[in-house]
Amino acid sequence: MSGSAQVCDVCGTRYPALDARVQCAACDGLLHIEHPQPPTCAAALRDFFDVRLMPVRGPKGMGPGDSGVWRFRELVMPGAADAELVTQGEGNTPLLARERVARWAGVEDLLIKHEGHNPTGSFKDRGMTVAITQAKRIKATAVACASTGNTSSALASYAALAGLRGLVLVPAGKVALGKLSQTIAYGAQTLLVRGDFDDCLRLARESSEQLGVYLANSINPWRLEGQKTIIFDLLQQLRWQSPDWLVLPAGNLGNTAAFGAALREALRLGLIDRTPRLACVQAAGSAPFAASFRDGFHTRHTVRAETIATAIRIGDPASYDRAVRAIRETDGVVISVTDDELLEAKAVIDASGVGCEPASAASVAGTRALVRSGIIDRNTRVVALLTGHMLKDPEVMLSYHREMEPPPPFANRSIEIDATLADLERVLRTAPVIA
Ligand code: F0G
Repeated sequence: MSGSAQVCDVCGTRYPALDARVQCAACDGLLHIEHPQPPTCAAALRDFFDVRLMPVRGPKGMGPGDSGVWRFRELVMPGAADAELVTQGEGNTPLLARERVARWAGVEDLLIKHEGHNPTGSFKDRGMTVAITQAKRIKATAVACASTGNTSSALASYAALAGLRGLVLVPAGKVALGKLSQTIAYGAQTLLVRGDFDDCLRLARESSEQLGVYLANSINPWRLEGQKTIIFDLLQQLRWQSPDWLVLPAGNLGNTAAFGAALREALRLGLIDRTPRLACVQAAGSAPFAASFRDGFHTRHTVRAETIATAIRIGDPASYDRAVRAIRETDGVVISVTDDELLEAKAVIDASGVGCEPASAASVAGTRALVRSGIIDRNTRVVALLTGHMLKDPEVMLSYHREMEPPPPFANRSIEIDATLADLERVLRTAPVIA
């Protein structure tokens, strides 16, 4: 037993770490995890995490030593034994500086934390390695989630690793091609629900007990424990110096909630002495949280969501209350950007050689908007989070470059030629040079 407990956000009821429920039996509130205080001071803890970064002997990607989640296990799931962990070298994602992206966004010191470098191509692997490890610990035989595509890809992969049955509910016709292909190919039972993500989540929550499955959505408290490591990983890369701003795309608000919890914990443990300000960015057609922020969080707004960024096409975010707390505690802001702004940001990120999926580009589009409105000072250090890999959504990408009329600002039209030198020379002479 770990000594960690699952505690209700609303009424404070405590459940043991190995209890299978993900919501409070007394009041239906969401649960969070409380861990015992690590038995060391902040400096020792930082050293400890650094030592674990050193190369380990043996095959890479095989064990907990190679994971950028389990490196921080004292703050994630202290009681888990090595043999129990369902891991495949997730986390340890790069922190990149790209002049072209920084120039477009209008910030001198812009860093990009790229979570698309995870095994299934999104940040969801960080939470899923922990949730599926927990599923094994409580001896679940099947796991389920509702998803806009990335959670389902991660669930399908980690369920396959663990030998568990995976069941996913996704909105029919609204999941990007890369994500749907992954989910099916990793072997999850895939249900295409005639409805949107909010319908899928409601159905998953209602049915989880009847179906006898362990729910691995971001309302699952262990998922958020894993997602906290985006912050720990980032802070370690920055030698535990907080940036001024941390900008992230926001949909169901699980990540915003996890970031709030991680920063609170890092501050409490003395790992950092101040937190960055969080900036959440939503797509304009799916921006209930931005609407709530504008009215001082007096009203919990919901919308019927629409956006080209299907990952964040969510109208009734489940982790609303926790996200409000995260924004309040970090003096954060919430804004929205249009689909055109998202696509332009994505084209710039892609053309810098980095690449990301449409929803991820919200962080860079949002950074630009916040600089232009004077909220972010251009001389401060900003970290923009990219949440998913560019190959997740090839359809949106090809449509931008090949089909949209008139061609958008950074469209790179491909040209079909005959297999002759004459055709090749003509193109080289006449086609515009891509800047
Ligand atoms: N970016 C990407 C690429 C996502 O897939 C998601 C959420 C988000 C941002 C927003 O994160 O929900 O924690 O605010 N995707 C979920 C899914 C909903 O099912 O894959 P959030």
